[in-house]
Amino acid sequence: MGRQFFVGGNFKMNGNIKTIRDIVHNINQAKLDPNVEVVIAPPSLYLLLAREHLRKGIEVAAQNVYDKPNGAFTGEISVDQLKESGITWTILGHSERRVILQEDDQFVASKTKAAIDGGLGVILCCGESLEQREANKTIEVVTTQLKAVADKVKDWSKIVVAYEPIWAIGTGKVATTEQAQEVHAAIREWLKKEVSPEAAENTRILYGGSVTEKNCGDLAKQPDIDGFLVGGASLKPAFVDIINAKS
Ligand code: G3P
Repeated sequence: MGRQFFVGGNFKMNGNIKTIRDIVHNINQAKLDPNVEVVIAPPSLYLLLAREHLRKGIEVAAQNVYDKPNGAFTGEISVDQLKESGITWTILGHSERRVILQEDDQFVASKTKAAIDGGLGVILCCGESLEQREANKTIEVVTTQLKAVADKVKDWSKIVVAYEPIWAIGTGKVATTEQAQEVHAAIREWLKKEVSPEAAENTRILYGGSVTEKNCGDLAKQPDIDGFLVGGASLKPAFVDIINAKS
């Protein structure tokens, strides 16, 4: 069996009660490709609202989770708190958290381990800056980010990797199909060597960075692109067209 196509919507710090309700309503009544796994990640304040109203079969993800089980960690949310609320996924390692909030590879790996050990699925983000790409360091940067996780987590069956080149995020400057496919193939090769042949075969590798209803079709045809992590366009009705990119 092939890898199931996966489309995630990362709302980032956008939306309010009304707009989140509208987005959920739009998804609920859309005709979605039944072969696609769909997960949406609203801001933490709206996770329960989304879970309560979203139709069955579509999952909700947090945008972050902490690596400690409970205690004096102001502002943080635990794996168990998410699980109790029916939130089955979390995004981790997004470049906005790595860059703006200065999360390093070790912290991302530690949170990934906590999430996986606790039974959550993880959308694990990686990606290079423009400067790193121009210095031909893309593969090195991405695999170094992933290696920190592989050192701590052996079971990758609940990890979905999202390759998000930083220069393509929110810029309207999408990676070409060749650029994306090249990095995805390299990640798969790396998984084969550093994790296992099964992980290489089964791990979904998503592309993220200025994905729209217009450019998703060609990207979706690439052999190592198994879906998308969508930012801006996930807030719009066109998100449905991205979910249906393959149909
Ligand atoms: O996590 C999704 C992301 O960073 C891409 O954002 O707005 O370029 O689709 P956007």
